[in-house]
Amino acid sequence: MAGLIPNDFIEQLLDRTDIIEVIGNRIDLKKKGKDHWACCPFHQENSPSFSVNANKQFYYCFGCGASGTAVKFLQEYENLSFVEAIEELARMAGQDVPREEVSRESQQRQQQRRTLHDLMGSCADYFTHQLYQHPNAQQVQQYILSRGLTEETVRTFGIGFAPAGWDNLIQHYRSDKTNQELLTTGMLTQNEQGRTYDRFRNRLMFPIRDIKGRVIAFGGRVMSADEKPKYLNSPETPIFHKGSELYGLYEARKALKDFDNIIIVEGYMDVVALAQHKVRNAVATLGTATSTTHIQKLFKHTQELVFCFDGDNAGRRAAERALANCLSEIKDGYQVRFLFLPEGEDPDTIVQQEGFDGFMHRVKQAQSCSDFLFQHLQTQADISRLDGRAKLASLARGWIEKAPEGIFKQLLYKQLSDLIGLSSEQIIENYRVEKPDIAPPPEPESNPSNVAPAYPYHGETSTQHYSPEQQQPAQRHTNNRLGVRIGMVHRTLAWLIRYPELVLNIDVESLKLLPENADNQLLVRVVELLLSAPKKDLYSAFDYLCQHNLRAALSPIAESDYLWLEAHNEQQRDEKEFAKLELEKLISGLIHKAPDQEYEKLAERVRTLDPSLTDTEKQRYRELLAQKKRK
Ligand code: UTP
Ligand code: MN
Repeated sequence: MAGLIPNDFIEQLLDRTDIIEVIGNRIDLKKKGKDHWACCPFHQENSPSFSVNANKQFYYCFGCGASGTAVKFLQEYENLSFVEAIEELARMAGQDVPREEVSRESQQRQQQRRTLHDLMGSCADYFTHQLYQHPNAQQVQQYILSRGLTEETVRTFGIGFAPAGWDNLIQHYRSDKTNQELLTTGMLTQNEQGRTYDRFRNRLMFPIRDIKGRVIAFGGRVMSADEKPKYLNSPETPIFHKGSELYGLYEARKALKDFDNIIIVEGYMDVVALAQHKVRNAVATLGTATSTTHIQKLFKHTQELVFCFDGDNAGRRAAERALANCLSEIKDGYQVRFLFLPEGEDPDTIVQQEGFDGFMHRVKQAQSCSDFLFQHLQTQADISRLDGRAKLASLARGWIEKAPEGIFKQLLYKQLSDLIGLSSEQIIENYRVEKPDIAPPPEPESNPSNVAPAYPYHGETSTQHYSPEQQQPAQRHTNNRLGVRIGMVHRTLAWLIRYPELVLNIDVESLKLLPENADNQLLVRVVELLLSAPKKDLYSAFDYLCQHNLRAALSPIAESDYLWLEAHNEQQRDEKEFAKLELEKLISGLIHKAPDQEYEKLAERVRTLDPSLTDTEKQRYRELLAQKKRK
């Protein structure tokens, strides 16, 4: 029985691990400057902004903020637990992982989880066996045929048959210990007299698998219209939490390496029918509303979600709830869209009628999140009237404020402002946030008290430690590819971010005198931020600025050479010293260029007899002209 991995071993293993080797074995790294670079494996990009630093034994993506150690990389990239990542590093180093003695209870807990998973796998095998061997198999096969499913689809999804009868599983296993475990996993249920019997009887069985492919629960469908309920699902168990699992995610990941998007549908049959028609990127929630946890999980695999609902009222309500739960997760670079099907249809029936092309055509036309939001809000407020517009403003604020700071939120405000004819500032100043009125989700079933805690292990916990910013990929700018020259302000910024402590040498007041344009304002903002919270290195400086919503503004720098280019430093000076000189040159260049720019602008207006030219501006023009003449 495996115990805890001793801390000493982990430390010594990490000391011997080279992150360049770990990552370089998995993705193609190129050395540029001090760091190694690649296209980030955690978000989609065409030019490399993923850097690996050998000195710090640390990776950092300037595009999406993903960062961490070799262990974290393995966990994220290979979808491993902490323990599995350590085991993988040990394997690479040719070492065995020693284990400490563990307490009896934690041993039991671990054993229990293992046996519960094994048992569920074995139940799934039993159900698939029945599908072919049971005396009534013919009827079940007939039903499968009537639903249009092929043998291959049935196999891909591991679909099986739970025969009629109260004690098939009990008879199959014939062990008290197993009966206890069958109860724990919800495969058996107990009546008030304490008698146990099979939960799933005479049903078509859909195994629900976790992301590793282990069976953790089942959904069972009746095969005739008069039986109820139509679908029966496993209850919450130590290994199944329906609020965070998605049917079909494992199968989708197995079938496809990359997704453009993931389509979220309502039912098991929808996922299965879509997959059979080669739409392999669909998943379903398990008879529950889409939770924020679901959305976070899906956004680990794709940047775009398409929710697919029936066009009826229930579908609209479900869509509103999904919208309410996803707004907070739509960081810049991520997208959510909504697809409504004609009333009475579902993805299963549509894909059978219209095939892959027809269904995908609909997906392409899915409504954007913001269009759906404003359409929904306009059912609650009539914007042809003044009071309706006021109502819309405060209703909309309640929704928009759920979105994280960033471009998406700004766009929502912009769309609102276009709709009601007030500026975003006016809206924010004048209308209070009204809490969105959404039908509450059904009460989740409470967890039984015998839920086993997570695996015991030492050290760093598994994957869930991001700051929100770290998960936020940048809005990609396509115009600034590697090697392209960038302007003086951006070069200044690049040196500053590389050596953030140099900010202390900069006189921010003189920068404020530069002509007011977006670049100069960005420079002042960055200088002020770095002055207010001194940073020691490139990564923490860049991260800090991104936390202040500058990721998009800084992306031309992140995508240019300037963050990593080795200084063209012929005198072999210390690089920081060199950076300091470069910065001085750039800043004095900016300041000297400034009057020229100002002069050119004013001169142009004077030449064109611009009527809006004020007396002060004319005066300033004459001063600048005189200065130029003196030069
Ligand atoms: P639907 O009633 O829309 O069924 O339920 P469906 O997916 O179209 O199934 P078919 O085509 O009739 O076979 C959608 C989902 O809601 C949950 C199930 O997860 C189902 O897939 N559900 C539905 C239940 O949990 N229990 C029920 O009784 C009905
Ligand atoms: Mn259906």
